[in-house]
Amino acid sequence: MSEDIKKGLMGVTVDETSISKVMPEINSLTYRGYAAQDLCANCKFEEVAYLILNGELPNKKQLKEFEKQEKKERTISKALVEAIKKIPKKAHPMDVARTAVSIMGLEDKETRDNSPKANMRKVMRIFAKTPVALAAFYRTRKGKKIILPKKKLSFSENFFHMCFGKVPNKDIVKAFDVSLILYAEHSFNVSTFTARTITSSLSDIHGAITGAIASLKGPLHGGANEEVMHMMNKIKKPENAFKWINKALDNKNVVMGFGHRVYKSGDSRVPTMREYFGKVAKIKKDKKFEKIYDIVERVMIERKNIHPNVDYPTGPTYHLMGFDTDFFTPIFVISRITGWSAHIIEQHAANKLIRPLASYNGNKYRKVNKLNKR
Ligand SMILES: CC(C)(COP(=O)(O)OP(=O)(O)OC[C@H]1O[C@@H](n2cnc3c(N)ncnc32)[C@H](O)[C@@H]1OP(=O)(O)O)[C@@H](O)C(=O)NCCC(=O)NCCS
Repeated sequence: MSEDIKKGLMGVTVDETSISKVMPEINSLTYRGYAAQDLCANCKFEEVAYLILNGELPNKKQLKEFEKQEKKERTISKALVEAIKKIPKKAHPMDVARTAVSIMGLEDKETRDNSPKANMRKVMRIFAKTPVALAAFYRTRKGKKIILPKKKLSFSENFFHMCFGKVPNKDIVKAFDVSLILYAEHSFNVSTFTARTITSSLSDIHGAITGAIASLKGPLHGGANEEVMHMMNKIKKPENAFKWINKALDNKNVVMGFGHRVYKSGDSRVPTMREYFGKVAKIKKDKKFEKIYDIVERVMIERKNIHPNVDYPTGPTYHLMGFDTDFFTPIFVISRITGWSAHIIEQHAANKLIRPLASYNGNKYRKVNKLNKR
């Protein structure tokens, strides 16, 4: 392979962004200059969503207005409800999320308007409606009645309410909110780059987010949080963990929830999420997954010097909260819509068609033989 090829665009800087950065001086992921863990400690998810989309943290009045807009858009059309009811029950909810955003694009009167103001209005609609659509599928596939959103609830509370019909205690809601903050944005990752690439042809925001969801589904990206849970379920109990992980490494298996393209000595989001995973485990009086977590992590660091990424603690946290495993990545979606949208808006503001080159290694020039001579 030619040395000029940067497979996977590894180490290639393709554009500028003002949305987020892993700052080496504080060893942390930052959104618009604020450390993600600082935001977790001091803000609720809606404030961080506002920050990512608008560049500054909101004051009280701005937050109230933002929340009002989001709550106003917490409805989905009858046509979308009907479509969700007809989706095969075994469909992966990530495909449901992709389809729901696609249908919202068919219904949105401003789909083709890429002006900054129209894009922001569309963002609010996608941001508010996607959790409603996902929760509707959560219920219908179990044969349960859809639960309508409640305006008096926060973004996170409302998601629990729509999925389970009740809001858990405030510490569980806070842990969920923290996970949304940590998942909200991460610069030029695969799904964001997909969204920016789609946007670069001057396509629309619904299309870009639909593509980003498809990209996030993969197990090397957002799908890892589900794979972590599958792994923990295979391990079953803490007594099996040491043997299981050593065997996986002996077999040269990729261990989900570990490693990262950007962080090579630890994902800065992990300590915060690990802390909240512990809190949820304590509330749920279930220490099993924490024990498995610690053993697998220790062996991965000792044998491979590979550290966990944020999907490692979110997987078992969502499980303890009661979510079905295949809903873990869709939860990632409802948060990352903010980051994707900010990138789509940024791409529109200084667009250049994304069109890299490839080194050709196919056949030399040849002539076409007529069908009867082949
Ligand atoms: C995220 C990921 C795709 C990053 O990949 P990358 O930057 O291309 O790095 P590589 O896959 O080339 O990994 C470098 C080395 O570490 C090893 N490695 C990386 N992650 C590993 C993991 N999770 N388990 C076991 N080995 C791993 C690779 O096998 C490779 O070893 P080698 O040099 O002996 O071939 C990769 O770490 C991975 O597949 N992780 C599991 C999936 C996951 O958790 N994804 C969520 C990311 S937030």
